[in-house]
Amino acid sequence: MKKTQIITTVIEYDSVNELSQQDQLLVKNAKETALNSYAPYSKFNVGAAVQLNNGEIIQGNNQENSAYPSGLCAERVAIFYANAKFPNVPVQAIAITARTNGSFLETPVPPCGSCRQVLLETEARYKQPIKVILCGEKKIKIVESIRELLPIFFDKEMLDE
Ligand code: THU
Repeated sequence: MKKTQIITTVIEYDSVNELSQQDQLLVKNAKETALNSYAPYSKFNVGAAVQLNNGEIIQGNNQENSAYPSGLCAERVAIFYANAKFPNVPVQAIAITARTNGSFLETPVPPCGSCRQVLLETEARYKQPIKVILCGEKKIKIVESIRELLPIFFDKEMLDE
């Protein structure tokens, strides 16, 4: 028997003003697009903004459906749109924000398992780590790669074995 430990490195900030200008702009875009989310069922409005290597920022928000599983998370809306519009441009970073009861959450909201898997595929596709910025009003958490949030993962290497 062997027991191993996995260490995740998370960088924490108390204010968005401590982030670089580029990351602040990304957070601003994530907040802006959260306001356009379609979430009549959960009333949980998520906004994501994706930074691309060509300088473009792509926004996405959660889109719900009366047939619940037909909806999609903000992160995947943003990533899929970015990949659809700029299929050859690597993704550098994603900022995520969430809003409920008329205000942004104080604590950062991490992406769900399916969104982590999609972000992992995108990292592999463009061979570039994606910085993930989880933005709460009272705390910002940053990981330098989605692998920090999904350290034991399934990817295409396993299909080839
Ligand atoms: N949601 C996201 O958009 N991103 C996440 O990472 C977590 C959950 C959405 C899905 C659904 O519309 C609502 O938040 C409540 O789960």
